[in-house]
Amino acid sequence: MTRADTLYERLGGEPGLAGLVVRFYARILADSQLAPFFQNTSLEKLMQMQREFFGAALDGPQSYSGQALSRVHVGRGITSDDFNRFSQHLAATLEEGGVHDDDLREVIHRIAVHKNDITGEAY
Ligand code: HEM
Repeated sequence: MTRADTLYERLGGEPGLAGLVVRFYARILADSQLAPFFQNTSLEKLMQMQREFFGAALDGPQSYSGQALSRVHVGRGITSDDFNRFSQHLAATLEEGGVHDDDLREVIHRIAVHKNDITGEAY
């Protein structure tokens, strides 16, 4: 069996990504360190933006129509430790979904490059 060409396709395309985002945020919201950040957030809008963002970041056909990540995140007090937990939940979600190790590492890498935009460390 040959593996699909793009990371996006290997993660199941649009339905795969939609399921991934739902399972990922279920984990985030069950984490008492991370859940408070999302207290006043419309999860429906957030998940829609995340489907776009992840789609675009993983070579899918989506384009991201939301605001710059730094604008949305800096000032919320998100620490490096929060960011790392967020990434660990993403990795666990991918692992549970049976995603190939190489693909899992690639997704985490593509998300990790945004760390400074989220924590504001470079600002
Ligand atoms: C690289 C990792 C991350 C990415 C790619 C990401 C991406 C996004 C995107 C695309 C949005 C929607 C933006 C919009 O509405 O225009 C968003 C919103 C949000 N993110 Fe993140 N995020 C990341 C990490 C985090 C972390 C670690 C936290 C907190 C622990 C966090 C908390 C939030 C909150 C609270 C909102 C909602 C803001 C609102 O209510 O409008 N994010 N994020």
